[in-house]
Amino acid sequence: MKSVVLGAQWGDEGKGKIVDYLAESADIVIRYSGGANAGHTIVTGDTTYKLHLVPSGIIYPDKIVILGTAMVVDPEALFTELQVISDQGISWQGRIFISDRAHLVLPEYKHEDTSEESSRHKPLGTTGRGIGSTYAHKAKRDGIRLADIFDTERYALLTEGQKTFLEAYREKLRPMLLDLVSFMADHKDSTILFEGAQGTLLDIDLGTYPYVSSGISAAAGACVGGGVGPRDLDRIYGVFKAYSTRVGNGPFPSEFHKERDGDLEEVIRETGREYGVTTGRPRRCGYLDLPALKYACQANSIDTLVLTHLDVYDAFDTIQVCTAYRRGEKVFDNFPASIETLERAEPVLEAFSGWKTSLAGIRNYDDLPEAAKQYIRYIEEYTGTSIGIISVGYRREDTITR
Ligand code: IMP
Repeated sequence: MKSVVLGAQWGDEGKGKIVDYLAESADIVIRYSGGANAGHTIVTGDTTYKLHLVPSGIIYPDKIVILGTAMVVDPEALFTELQVISDQGISWQGRIFISDRAHLVLPEYKHEDTSEESSRHKPLGTTGRGIGSTYAHKAKRDGIRLADIFDTERYALLTEGQKTFLEAYREKLRPMLLDLVSFMADHKDSTILFEGAQGTLLDIDLGTYPYVSSGISAAAGACVGGGVGPRDLDRIYGVFKAYSTRVGNGPFPSEFHKERDGDLEEVIRETGREYGVTTGRPRRCGYLDLPALKYACQANSIDTLVLTHLDVYDAFDTIQVCTAYRRGEKVFDNFPASIETLERAEPVLEAFSGWKTSLAGIRNYDDLPEAAKQYIRYIEEYTGTSIGIISVGYRREDTITR
């Protein structure tokens, strides 16, 4: 069985928790895209793990985890992160591998990222982790893959500064590299989870370009990044929050506005702890955007939606969702490519009664309040996709499977 877990919004949907939850029955977890710009949080017992590069399966002592081919890997960030999880009691030696075709993030790429950002007329709000510039070097055919640092001719082409930086990591990286396509062929009967990063609306092609990241967050990225072809994927999970958030700049049609929505943004941000895991930035918050979610379902062939942060609405009298966009006289419900259209669009809202009770401790779908079930059913009907997992809290056990 091979399943993909991807973000169906602008990232930060709770993928880390869901991958961790599903990883219990997996043998191998492969991160297929992005780099240290991601921030995946996992809470088990009293411990909170914050992962950026390392796949979320690492928390289980017996899982193999792999950084996939389409990732961009900063060795400095990787070994810092491994040290932090080691200090938290996770033993990772011998069970974390990296595709030898993945690209390296070098210190100068991070400088390029921040200096290009500062010269932009309208900044993107990049995390400054060198992601965009590393993918740009890769597309220009100037990038350096992990395999290249063990290739005498390719290595000789590097600058003295690059070699000095890499010397500190070369021998530590050597035993971690693998040929992912061969590895996957050898493990074709294993249960594998492909872990996405960022989200569909930050995908380089499907997202709100240019206000996107540079990797392929979409389900299709799981193939190239994960060393398999599209026919090998059995199930696609799309994770989304009961509302929407976005970090960094770019259009966000259902974003809360003070004049229209009062202090909803502050309430959601504080209740849902909506601060970036990687940068600590407060996230922009808004209504659940159903046209955008339906677009993500269609673009990724999502089989099963995973609804997270439902408990954030526990105290609400009324819950509103965006069901279409309005621009002037025109009402439309497709997710358009035009940034200008998205920026000028106003959300068309539909209201639902809140459930006004705590969802904490609920483990069965049937035990959810009727108002919560109504909200869930409406989303399923709108998107044409069933919601198979519902998260009502941060911990692994705060999860309902239908
Ligand atoms: P970059 O990928 O760091 O260059 O950032 C590009 C855009 O994607 C910025 O708006 C970031 O805030 C956003 N972004 C990148 N990674 C994540 C993530 O893991 N979660 C949410 N937003 C992200």
